[in-house]
Amino acid sequence: MNLIIAENYEDMSHKAANYLIEKVKKHPKMNLGLATGGTPERTYELIIEDHQKNGTSYEGIQSFNLDEYIGLAQDHPNSYYYYMCHQLFNDIDIKKENVHLPSGVAKNLEEECQNYEALITNAGGVDLQILGIGSNGHIGFNEPGTPFQTKTHIVKLTNSTREANSRYFVTMADVPTQAITMGIGTIMKSKEILLLVSGDNKAEALQKLMREDVNEQFPASVLKNHPCVTIIADKKALTKVMVHS
Ligand code: F6R
Repeated sequence: MNLIIAENYEDMSHKAANYLIEKVKKHPKMNLGLATGGTPERTYELIIEDHQKNGTSYEGIQSFNLDEYIGLAQDHPNSYYYYMCHQLFNDIDIKKENVHLPSGVAKNLEEECQNYEALITNAGGVDLQILGIGSNGHIGFNEPGTPFQTKTHIVKLTNSTREANSRYFVTMADVPTQAITMGIGTIMKSKEILLLVSGDNKAEALQKLMREDVNEQFPASVLKNHPCVTIIADKKALTKVMVHS
């Protein structure tokens, strides 16, 4: 795993946006794997700024998001589809038919998982997958204990994940209890992975990722088995890894 050290959240976001923009310029028809959550928000803003100033185009890009809450329709303000439209898609020239997220309100959710997995495979797989990390080591919504070979599947969210995400909802009771997520096997099939880590609330998770052996109780540890992973982490996230930062 290649580590890029950033000064702070702003610097991490600039480094991440530049990394992605360079890839898109070189490979204008690539398949991008995208994440939601707080970590990539500024990165997405910077991508929009670059699109508006420099005209980097996403017309040929297909995007595949990691996950979606079960029970929230696309127009629900807490759905990940809504998040992606408002944080990124509405302000760049990506074609709406080229953006893909699993549907959290599909009639047959098992079938939806299979269809989403097939969609990714038939598109030739994800070229660059952006990831955040949960403080319990989750990637996508693959919680501790998820077998490494899983494909897109339905998950029950842990209380710690629901609590972490409750900041976006009115009450804790509004936070969905289940989600559809790309599996760890799906994520590991991406040709390249870019993991973004920021803040001292992620320091323990990053320490575990760097120090612990690969094990299913800490899902992100699987990334050590991937041949092409870059981590962009800021100094607060690195406090437990680097003694002198
Ligand atoms: C988001 C996702 C999650 C987040 C993780 C970190 O699509 O799949 O794994 O990346 O929960 O979330 P933030 O960035 O809010 O700390």
